Amino acid sequence: MKKLTLTIDYLEYDSIDELNAEDKSLMQQAHEAATTAYAPYSNFSVGAAVLLENGVVVKGSNQENAAYPTGLCAERVAVFAASSHYPGVPIKTIAITAKSSHIKVENPVAPCGSCRQAISEYEVLYNKPIRFLLMGETGKVLELKNVESLLPLRFEGKNIIHSH
Ligand code: THU
Repeated sequence: MKKLTLTIDYLEYDSIDELNAEDKSLMQQAHEAATTAYAPYSNFSVGAAVLLENGVVVKGSNQENAAYPTGLCAERVAVFAASSHYPGVPIKTIAITAKSSHIKVENPVAPCGSCRQAISEYEVLYNKPIRFLLMGETGKVLELKNVESLLPLRFEGKNIIHSH
């Protein structure tokens, strides 16, 4: 038996204004996306903006449903839309933010576990790191360099594909 340690490193910016122009624009598009959320049940509006390697930005917002589990998070709406409109084009960066009519979302919003798994699929598929920019309605921005940082020891397709 041996003890192993995994560490992640990430960047913290004091505000969106500290980001470079491309990242700032992507985060602004995530904020725009949050305004399109359909979230009558939680009143928690999440926006995601996905920058593809071809320069296209695909946006998504959470879409809720009266049958609660049927709804989908903003991040999966965005990456699934990106992959269906631009199959074969790797994802470079995903910016995520949220706002609520009930609470002030001051801390960076991190994607849920299911979204991490969904996004992971594309990082593995294209063998290219997907960067994350996470923010609340206001305040700090966190930058993580890949999905692995958010989902270590992840489950991958190679775990279930037979090799002969
Ligand atoms: N939600 C997202 O869209 N992304 C996340 O990463 C966390 C949660 C949505 C799902 C639901 O519509 C609302 O936020 C409250 O959980």
